[in-house]
Amino acid sequence: MSSGPAADLLADLRSDTLTRPTPAMRAAIAEAAVGDDVYGEDPEVNLLEAEVAGLLGHEAGLFCSTGSLANMLGVRVVVPPGQELLCDSLAHVVRAELGGHAVLGQVTTRTWASERGRLDAATAIEMAVPDGGPYLVSTAAYAVENTHNFGGGTVQPVEELRALWTASREQGIAVHLDGARLWNAHVATGVPLAEYGSYADTVSVCLSKGLGAPIGSVLVGSAERIAAARVWRKRYGGGMRQVGVLAAAGRYALAHHLERLADDHAHARQLAEAIAGVDDRLCSPEQTETNIVLLTWPTPGSAAAFAAETAQAGIRVSVLGPRAVRMVTHLDVDDAAIDRAVDLLPGIVKAALHQG
Ligand SMILES: Cc1ncc(COP(=O)(O)O)c(C=O)c1O
Repeated sequence: MSSGPAADLLADLRSDTLTRPTPAMRAAIAEAAVGDDVYGEDPEVNLLEAEVAGLLGHEAGLFCSTGSLANMLGVRVVVPPGQELLCDSLAHVVRAELGGHAVLGQVTTRTWASERGRLDAATAIEMAVPDGGPYLVSTAAYAVENTHNFGGGTVQPVEELRALWTASREQGIAVHLDGARLWNAHVATGVPLAEYGSYADTVSVCLSKGLGAPIGSVLVGSAERIAAARVWRKRYGGGMRQVGVLAAAGRYALAHHLERLADDHAHARQLAEAIAGVDDRLCSPEQTETNIVLLTWPTPGSAAAFAAETAQAGIRVSVLGPRAVRMVTHLDVDDAAIDRAVDLLPGIVKAALHQG
């Protein structure tokens, strides 16, 4: 298809982490009161931690620089060294945290297979070894991801979360929820954040993805676990000082950018419909539940051709595997950009299929 110079950037759909702070968010940052957070004296951080803990129905919160750190601390305080974390094989904690849970937390992992990351509680429950004695690794925690990133923004069924939670109480096994995009699940389903929070011992949430803050995640849990996580955060070098400027961005994002995630979901559905309209093997609009469109190409050649051609048209996408492409909608992709992308994509898809 086309070549020649790439068009101006129309939509950067590689990730929802790519958003830039809005002018109003920058004003909130500029006005933030600050103090030393290692001393527990940053007012914005304290407010943010309390707000997020309250939203999720937990006792306490801990502001972290990244979702990976929040996950590592959350797992750290529920899985003793040498014990195991069970999760699905597409989970961010095992695929994309660069072995941090093993390297820093001395945690071993076992995984179950899933369809698009969707939780089947019975499969997870069956794998657990609550007390392996001196023979087998003991299971200390389950990790669940909601929404599921590499699964394509999959929302976890609330009845499966509840079933896992109930069994975990009987087994004496903790549940860590990687809720980097829990906001999207909440907006997509209307399930209250506190209900999601009630099915986990520790929950990490990100402010720097769909909510559009430049940085920041919060880990919530019991006061005791969060006190322990605070010690580990400092030990890992993650203690922060006058970061009220960052917490203020997160608080602004929570107050102003939560409900609008519904727009991102509608945009993702529009993209999926445009693509599936050409070839419904590539993606399914019904399975595009939140802000992530996952494309599975029949051949590696067509995935690569698609990514190259979209870049030429000013649409950036992520190639996640030989046949897998991910597109993520977010705050910085507006209605006009989506309308234009919907016009352009069918032609690009046809050409890519032809080249592959
Ligand atoms: C599901 C999930 N969990 C955790 C993270 C880690 O977040 P961070 O990039 O802030 O470390 C990501 C990042 O994309 C994610 O998608």
